[in-house]
Amino acid sequence: MISPAKLKKLAKEHGTPLFVVDHEQLRHNFGQFRKYLPRVQPYFAVKANSLPEIVRTLYKAGSSFDVASMPEFDIVYENIKDLPAKERQAYIWDKIIYANPIKSQATLERLDEYKPLVTYDNLAEIGKIRKHAPHAGLALRIKVSNTGAMVELSSKFGADPGESVVLIQAAHDAGLIVEGLSFHVGSQTTNFENYVQAIHLARGIFDEAASRGFNLKLLDIGGGFPARYDDDVKPFRSLASKLNRELDRLFPNTEILAEPGRFMVATACTLVATIIGKAERGGKLCYYIDDGVYHTFSGIIFDHCKYPVRAFKAGPTRICSVFGPTCDALDTIALAEELPETLELGDLVYSPNIGAYSHASSTYFNGFPPATVVHIGQ
Ligand SMILES: Cc1ncc(COP(=O)(O)O)c(C=O)c1O
Repeated sequence: MISPAKLKKLAKEHGTPLFVVDHEQLRHNFGQFRKYLPRVQPYFAVKANSLPEIVRTLYKAGSSFDVASMPEFDIVYENIKDLPAKERQAYIWDKIIYANPIKSQATLERLDEYKPLVTYDNLAEIGKIRKHAPHAGLALRIKVSNTGAMVELSSKFGADPGESVVLIQAAHDAGLIVEGLSFHVGSQTTNFENYVQAIHLARGIFDEAASRGFNLKLLDIGGGFPARYDDDVKPFRSLASKLNRELDRLFPNTEILAEPGRFMVATACTLVATIIGKAERGGKLCYYIDDGVYHTFSGIIFDHCKYPVRAFKAGPTRICSVFGPTCDALDTIALAEELPETLELGDLVYSPNIGAYSHASSTYFNGFPPATVVHIGQ
């Protein structure tokens, strides 16, 4: 993490709320993924944090990309737009997956010229792809267990495994090619058995598809790789060794992709905020800061995530409430945060590990703009 002294210096220079992106940490996270999962090509899930500078750093590090909207596609495309046409096309085919199983007609029409790999999970989507993006390659997204994940995704997406081969056949009948399978075990998955079960399920579908003459070439194991928000989260290498074992045993010759979002960016960003109000309410000390759940702390609502608020100053502590700057009572960051009771208006606080699903879902609610972004170590 960036040192407290450096954070304070940056806040003095740029003001608060300040969202500090540490590109050295981004490169480190990418390197860890490559080191421990050497067979798996990471497609950074841009939705986790779509700042173009983050995409640029990961592009330069050799990442591939999972995009789920045309604006996300365009952010990645900015990095390759000057490549010779053939090279650019090869990059899109090889290194971009459009991993949103539901795509609008307008999106498909724009995607078609790029001939990307796209995910699907239902019959209606096959009809749309056939009509509006017949040059796309397909990956069938299957529903897998999300038990114990912080963010559950299986209620919204994923074909029932039992209907997978029917959906592969239907795509084939529509003149489309299914390249492989994809799944998502739920975001911030600390239950590593979800991956093991999903890989086993995928093996069964590969075999059934093969028996019907469909040779699937790739397996996309999605996102879900947990960020180490605290020591209760087991280290990445223990998940990786489980994954490597299962993949080598069940998919020794298959191309393996993954779509890590949170793992790449969560630990690379820190928020610095200022105390703008202090009150005693019902015997509880309440601090008000200049960022909240409509802004960088939006992950409290959308991502079911908790972020500690830390003080730079030491002093006798009390259990406090911490609120954001808007007029909405929903704008509550914490109701039981241990902070020094001696903090004063103008003092700074910070929240580490706040890079994923935070700034990305920040709003302008109540007239407060998203935090200023500063990049270090680019
Ligand atoms: C299709 C897909 N891929 C990848 C991700 C990234 O997941 P994570 O941030 O858990 O790695 C998501 C997150 O919602 C997703 O929906």
